[in-house]
Amino acid sequence: MGSVAPISKAIKTPHLEVEGSCSLTGRIKISGAKNSALVLMAASLLTKDKVRLNNIPSLTDIDVMGEILIRMGIEINRDDNSLFINPKGLRDALLPNELVHSLRASFFCIGPLLARLGKAKIPLPGGCQIGLRPIDEHIKGLRALGAIVEIDENIISATIPSNKKRLQAANIVLDFPSVGATETILMAATLADGTTTIENAAREPEVQDLIEMLVMMGAQIKGSGSSKLTIKGVEKLNGCIHSAIPDRIEAGTFLIAAAITRSQLVVGPVIPAHLEVVLNKLQECGCLIEEIEKNLLRIIPTQIKAVNIKTKPFPGFPTDLQAPFMALMSTANGTSEITETIFENRMQHVYELIKMGASINLNERTAQIQGVEELTGKSLMGGDLRSTAAIVLASLAAKGLSTIEGLNHLDRGYESFETKLNSIGATISRIESHTSQNIVSACELGTHNKVVIKQNAA
Ligand code: EPZ
Repeated sequence: MGSVAPISKAIKTPHLEVEGSCSLTGRIKISGAKNSALVLMAASLLTKDKVRLNNIPSLTDIDVMGEILIRMGIEINRDDNSLFINPKGLRDALLPNELVHSLRASFFCIGPLLARLGKAKIPLPGGCQIGLRPIDEHIKGLRALGAIVEIDENIISATIPSNKKRLQAANIVLDFPSVGATETILMAATLADGTTTIENAAREPEVQDLIEMLVMMGAQIKGSGSSKLTIKGVEKLNGCIHSAIPDRIEAGTFLIAAAITRSQLVVGPVIPAHLEVVLNKLQECGCLIEEIEKNLLRIIPTQIKAVNIKTKPFPGFPTDLQAPFMALMSTANGTSEITETIFENRMQHVYELIKMGASINLNERTAQIQGVEELTGKSLMGGDLRSTAAIVLASLAAKGLSTIEGLNHLDRGYESFETKLNSIGATISRIESHTSQNIVSACELGTHNKVVIKQNAA
């Protein structure tokens, strides 16, 4: 038999090694909000003028969004946490499947592309680990604004009818206060002819942040933070300089890190009004929280007791902190109930927490958690962004060492996650290199029932 090329098979993907029984101390600096930055980057397409975005975190999602904008003819440069965007060269390009599928937020470009160029073609963003993630509300809104929207072979084509120069204002009522749909319709309506209303609009801080940027660009929008938005269309929008709000989900994650390790921490900047329900729940379960100066919080955990949460659209408890909070409830005194009402498949961390010794009974989207004395470090796999963060937090408090895979998820949404944790007392190593083994086929060795594994230099 001819020579067979060796098959190099990595047997360990990059992972974190987390030492347990850790206590934290000091101050955590919170980065700019991922879920603001992504939509602010899309909004820059609405103008021909230059846009500068500050307080933009270094995350793989941001890199992918930047690559998508470049594919559409946009100039984009980064200096520290600022993006310098020149959207003058925007062209109608079919975005590549692999980029759109790796970043659902790329769909945010459809509204600005349509409003600016009169047409847009974007691959249907797939579902992801946490659910199907349909876009029916986005499409319904664009059609209400007069766009012709067709889906063919998983490509969405949207066009403004040839007899119209612009989208046409409409009164739109969302069936669900979808963050993405609100943002898509909002951006498209800023350049529509007439006054558009969006009822049952999402009220999330990231939507308010987008509105602030659009108003600075010359859009006429009223009702920010309420569930009814009114947008009076204008002919064009101008460039601007805008800073993204602090990431309330990152802040909540670190506050929970303090609570789960029973450590005092100072966390900021964080705008308390963006996390009111989460701060209330942390206080209810036994943490003292004080604003020691503007947008700077100190958390002092005491005995942690079980509390119930049900995720809701803002201003309710955010779905993005459900997994980290469940990690906290795993070692609380008593039994808590956590219900996920936003996404249909956002309980993947349950199985990993059970591996660590948590006592959780899951019935569809409701988990009953009987707090245990202590979790045990294990070899764990993160299934999505927030689940992976949750098991890192659990590992900090657990007894012994944990190894955690799924860093591709973590790096999408948390800037320098383990570096920030190590700066306040954690001991986390990122093992990038993996033991790759050349598995030489038995054929080459002529021994058909034995495979010799050669360990190459790691
Ligand atoms: C945004 O996703 C965030 N992502 C999510 O953060 C966040 O969890 C979510 O809002 C809820 O707050 C970004 O901003 C980039 P939705 P989005 O549209 O816009 C259903 C993270 O971890 N729906 O409010 O996709 C949908 O299936 C990520 O940082 C429709 O049915 O959320 C879901 O059940 C995860 N039809 C619910 O609404 C639609 O057309 C909420 O979705 C749109 C949504």
